Amino acid sequence: MKKVTLGVSGSIAAYRAADIASGLTKLGLDVQVAMTREATKFIAPLTFHDLTHHPVATDMFVPVQGLGADHISLARGADVILISPCTANLIAKLACGICDDIVSATVLATMAPVILAPAMNTVMYENVITQENLTQLRKRGFTIVEPDYAALPCGEVGRGHIADTERILGAVRMILGRGGELQGRHIVVTAGGTQEPIDAVRHIGNRSSGRMGYALTEALRDRGARVMLIAGPTTLLTPFGVEKIEVREALEMRDRVLEEIPSARAIVMTAAVVDFRPESPSSRKVKRGDFPSTISLVPNPDILNEIKGDVIKVGFAAESEDVVQNAAKKLAWKELDLIVANDISRPDSGFGSDTNQVTLIHKGGKIEKLPLLSKWEVAVEITDRIVELFKERLSL
Ligand SMILES: Cc1cc2nc3c(=O)[nH]c(=O)nc-3n(C[C@H](O)[C@H](O)[C@H](O)COP(=O)(O)O)c2cc1C
Repeated sequence: MKKVTLGVSGSIAAYRAADIASGLTKLGLDVQVAMTREATKFIAPLTFHDLTHHPVATDMFVPVQGLGADHISLARGADVILISPCTANLIAKLACGICDDIVSATVLATMAPVILAPAMNTVMYENVITQENLTQLRKRGFTIVEPDYAALPCGEVGRGHIADTERILGAVRMILGRGGELQGRHIVVTAGGTQEPIDAVRHIGNRSSGRMGYALTEALRDRGARVMLIAGPTTLLTPFGVEKIEVREALEMRDRVLEEIPSARAIVMTAAVVDFRPESPSSRKVKRGDFPSTISLVPNPDILNEIKGDVIKVGFAAESEDVVQNAAKKLAWKELDLIVANDISRPDSGFGSDTNQVTLIHKGGKIEKLPLLSKWEVAVEITDRIVELFKERLSL
């Protein structure tokens, strides 16, 4: 079991550390919490004791049961150290190598990677001293999960609000995934649906939420891959450590994918690209009374079919009838290594649902029908198959 040391410092966002401790344990990690003295004024150590089932270290002069006798035992055992929230004060101390409390001493004494999630008032965050300290820490290999731009408890609006819990957990997952089977592989993932303009405000689209593609992006990142996400419009948060290109129309998605492919080793096309686009979209908003009774459509290009060369190609097929036969035809026509056939006739599978029932059809003819799984579980299954494909394709 991998070990995480969670350091909590004296920010108003300290309450969020409870969510983070809970999220880390749900990821199957062994979590040991250390708190600064000021942090204990915002949230009780007992909360973390209950969430992690370990005593909490709050004072380096008081040995903690089960942790070894000295003040740096927390630093030695950790696979990763996460400080969340991280105050301006602690950032300054870490940049200078000060170690006068259990959290800063743990960071100075560790060989493990360190992640900081700053949280503070905007002026404190934007202060040149804080920014220079963060630049120093980045240069020294610290990973910073940037705070969000939002309304802050002090009444100001600006950057300094602690990042979303999922992004902070994503940073831990990414760091722990380094050295995984996909380390060094550059993989392109497309996600979401495209929108094909009819006029300046209307479009033809579909109900794709992007959730399957985003889950895959995270699963690939967690195994060490460098992922480029090319996504249609969605409200989902960009996973930590993933580069994202936003597109709207199918032609834009095609162009961005073709630009990215020469440096990539695999593409996973989960995006629901609209098959047809209006032939002559209007650049202005068409008035209700002027709307034509018919709109001429032209076919969009098939992006996967245009990709040639030595790259692993994984496609998705959303089918409502003859699921396996139709998907197998697409696999052959697009020269794919694997196609994920999605039975969208089921209410619990496909667009907008949290679960998917998929059948994996391999190039060699092997067919695997998976049970109904969450989109995250499907993403992990597909990632396992991509790892296998890389093992088979030694040239990549
Ligand atoms: C109500 C309150 C809220 C605070 N919130 C923050 C904060 O969000 N971020 C921050 O950097 N400092 C904040 N501070 C200031 C820190 O608590 C103070 O700098 C403290 O010395 C930090 O100690 P530590 O870094 O050892 O935990 C806050 C102080 C108070 C009284």
